[in-house]
Amino acid sequence: MKKKDVVIIGGGVIGTSIAYELTKRGKSVALVEKDTIGAHASSAAGGMLGAQVEFAEPGPLFDLSLRSRLMFPDLQKELYAASGIDIQLKTPGMLRVAFTEEEKSTLMKQAEWQTAMGLPATWLDTKEVRRMEPAVTDGIVGALFLTEDTQVSAPDLTKAFAVAAAKHGAAITENCEAIEFYRQGEQMTGIETTAGKLEADEYVIAGGAWSGKIMKQLGHSLPIFPVKGEAFSVLSIPHPIEKTIYSHGCYIVPKSGDRLLVGASVKDCGFDARLTIDGLQQLMAKAVRLLPVIKDCPLEKTWASLRPQTADGLPYFGRLSAYNNVSIAAGHFRNGILLSPITGQLIAQLLSGEATAEALEPFTDIRHSIPVSQ
Ligand code: GLY
Repeated sequence: MKKKDVVIIGGGVIGTSIAYELTKRGKSVALVEKDTIGAHASSAAGGMLGAQVEFAEPGPLFDLSLRSRLMFPDLQKELYAASGIDIQLKTPGMLRVAFTEEEKSTLMKQAEWQTAMGLPATWLDTKEVRRMEPAVTDGIVGALFLTEDTQVSAPDLTKAFAVAAAKHGAAITENCEAIEFYRQGEQMTGIETTAGKLEADEYVIAGGAWSGKIMKQLGHSLPIFPVKGEAFSVLSIPHPIEKTIYSHGCYIVPKSGDRLLVGASVKDCGFDARLTIDGLQQLMAKAVRLLPVIKDCPLEKTWASLRPQTADGLPYFGRLSAYNNVSIAAGHFRNGILLSPITGQLIAQLLSGEATAEALEPFTDIRHSIPVSQ
């Protein structure tokens, strides 16, 4: 294959978003994915754009999440025009429920700092919640109503990024693994893959939970590790809820058609992505507690996948400190779908010599990269 501007390793929502943004800027891109596009966390995700619900305190990642959430309405139109795929952006908001006074007080604090920043976050008592969503259990003490936390279809978003990037000329190869990296000093000069050698001016690692393993192949250790999430879906017509209902350890997301998606466990099991009876049983019990009518819904599917977590909870974006021409975009943990538009934009800006719309300093590998002794 002819030398490219950029080779991307990883065909999840992050790799495909970067490919899309780069090709929009006229860059020639090759993307390799060891399985199929979106085969792992990107398609398993609930698709929540939970910028407010997922953060208990402000910080640089919260700011980035808000910026990314704002990008979705335009992205929906843009991706539909470029790929013909509707990412199914739905905007009825989210209810973060509390079952105890302690949870309520934590959520009230969250509401306080978020409203001080000008964001909508309203506390509703049980009656108000049930007026809005009558199927939610009366066993709660109330809920935080987050009107701006919305949702998309995660598999469709990933597919749309990939199809749009391919339409703009990206060469996407599935079932293709990077097996060897060639370097001269601080310059990566090529990669050997199971489908042949690839050369580019710039390389991007966007391998999700596998990014730490790829870093080891490059001779560096970055604390990126897998955290398993188990989930299931049921069928229900009509939907018993309009908004996403989110509680500690369980969320229920009403999807298009007759599906309700229920996620997700959070388990440290290494690279074992198998679904367990225990995980499913606990999640089902939490879902029934939250939305009692769900117990009579027919089960549609069950699944599990691996989220990419980092030691300090912040993802890695930007050029790797040990190289001139290798970047990373990995470790998005629970927020890969939400952060995919801004990640694609930032990495594409960086590799196109543009000023990045956000500062990358808090997210670079300098905080953790350790050479692996050979
Ligand atoms: N974004 C929710 C999860 O990872 O389960």
